[in-house]
Amino acid sequence: MKEIKVFAPATVANVVCGFDVLGFAVNEPGDEVVMRLVDEPGVRLLKITGDDGRLPLDSAKNTVSASVQHYLKHLNREDVGVEIELHKKMPIGSGLGSSSASTVAGLYAINRLMGNLLTAKELVPFAMKGEELACGYGHADNVAPALMGGFVLIRSYDPLDIIALPTPENLFAAIVFPDVEVPTKDARQMIRSKVLLKDAVTQWGNVAGLVSGLFLNDIDLVGRSMKDVLVEPTRSILIPGFETLRELAMENGAVGFGISGSGPSVFALAKDEVTARKITDAQQKHLTKLNINSNAYVSSVNAEGPRVM
Ligand code: HSE
Repeated sequence: MKEIKVFAPATVANVVCGFDVLGFAVNEPGDEVVMRLVDEPGVRLLKITGDDGRLPLDSAKNTVSASVQHYLKHLNREDVGVEIELHKKMPIGSGLGSSSASTVAGLYAINRLMGNLLTAKELVPFAMKGEELACGYGHADNVAPALMGGFVLIRSYDPLDIIALPTPENLFAAIVFPDVEVPTKDARQMIRSKVLLKDAVTQWGNVAGLVSGLFLNDIDLVGRSMKDVLVEPTRSILIPGFETLRELAMENGAVGFGISGSGPSVFALAKDEVTARKITDAQQKHLTKLNINSNAYVSSVNAEGPRVM
């Protein structure tokens, strides 16, 4: 019997200005998958822990088992028998790529067990199927950085064109998850589908600025490019105290601030760990005053993607 335990990281999708096209991985939190190859053909999800019974155990409906099935079908290896345990170690509906971390842990595990037949980039389309199942749209800005590590750009969806961007050393994410749930499906439905040209100009200037900042290792340029005039004005309404959370981030030394993925988590980037902790401490104190529980994560950027535990 071959068995493997894999950790896959949470991710900050959009990176404020790059809706559906930018994302990066963090070292903490993340999800864990235990996977075994067995004699009886088929993919079976045996148990899920840490989800309070909210995720489907049906192998066709769960993002982990469904994407593993897609992978095996693609390889013409539906004769393979797989048993899966999913251990949720991060909040669901948090805007930190929760479904993506589970799916990616599963795909990384089956790919390792099968002898690394595909590269991380080649696994992205299978993980996108999982996102489609989870939120109705197969976006890649969580799964691509979770699989590849670091900052990632999805230059195009059709055809898929994914570019690994430089990951600056000593860049810290200060993430706060206010305990209010915002399902990605709902957060996508509320966005306007048409935009003004002048807003589009602002937005693509910032996306190009952020990517340039990563290539130039100019963190201040990355920070001043973290502006979103298209999506944030609508989505921030769902996040309690959003403008104060921004002020607290910037006053305490953040280079930039915004919504993580579809929210409600917010994140700031900081040049050192001490600054990142100051930011999350100040923001959590503010949320406590609003009677909102929160979790904080301070993490450097995860440059490697998933790992065997
Ligand atoms: N780009 C996606 C969205 C990320 O903003 O809806 C979801 O985490």
